[in-house]
Amino acid sequence: MTDLPPFINDYAYSKYRKSIEKEVLAGDIPRHIAVIMDGNRRYAKEVLGTDNVTKGHEKGKEKLREVADWCLQLGIRYLTAYAFSTENFGRDKYEVDYLMDSLAKTLFELGDDEKVHKNRMSIRVIGDIDLLPEPVRKGMEYAYEKTKGYDDYHLTLAIAYGSRQDIITAVRGIAKDVKDGAIDIDSIDEDLFKKYISTGDMPDPDLVIRTSGEIRISNFLLWEIAYSEFYFVDAYWPEFRYIDLLRAVRTYQKRTRRYGK
Ligand code: FPP
Ligand code: MG
Repeated sequence: MTDLPPFINDYAYSKYRKSIEKEVLAGDIPRHIAVIMDGNRRYAKEVLGTDNVTKGHEKGKEKLREVADWCLQLGIRYLTAYAFSTENFGRDKYEVDYLMDSLAKTLFELGDDEKVHKNRMSIRVIGDIDLLPEPVRKGMEYAYEKTKGYDDYHLTLAIAYGSRQDIITAVRGIAKDVKDGAIDIDSIDEDLFKKYISTGDMPDPDLVIRTSGEIRISNFLLWEIAYSEFYFVDAYWPEFRYIDLLRAVRTYQKRTRRYGK
């Protein structure tokens, strides 16, 4: 298709997108999508041609806003995005500072965002809050307070997040409650465990998408993804298109139809 004049390409692309969109909207829409937004720095280097990795993160941030819009459009109620892992603290100070600053700003913006309020979207953060700099904590509280009680849509940012750590925190909580006599050892089961992890009040992800061609989970939502479908795409996160999301959902729909429920 690349040899055709661009306007024919655009036309064909838009037709194709519309037809997949229609197909997807007629099927079972996942309730919860989790995304591992990978490839920002490679995008900066290889596509933008700059050594300044923050340029890739800047595009990555814009892409997350776009993906959240697409989820609204499709009626996907929960979107959880891996924005910063505990391991990411090991990156250069310049990059970590940039990301923390960008996350703080994003959270304040989301708290005041017209679309967020119009669609009654709750905004929250999961992760080790104690590791976060003050502005991110403030932004997190601001967005949370402004949107608490909203239940139509939910955007969750995983920041300073690691799933093993989250599981350990849950185990500690359960152990403490057993010690205090608040719960009985025999009552520990999957449902009880779920209440002690940070995603306790959300449905588990139906679909997990990772960009940039890496086929790994990287300590993201380990407990929650026990029955999730996975979709890996080669595009770097800033290049991820609506059509990629539609294809991911369509693949999820085909698989769930095949396995049945
Ligand atoms: C992965 O690409 C991306 C991150 C570690 C950070 C994710 C951050 C964003 C999408 C932007 C900030 C988001 C908000 C909401 C402010 P990478 O850095 O691992 O790139 P690479 O895999 O090419 O090295
Ligand atoms: Mg990466």
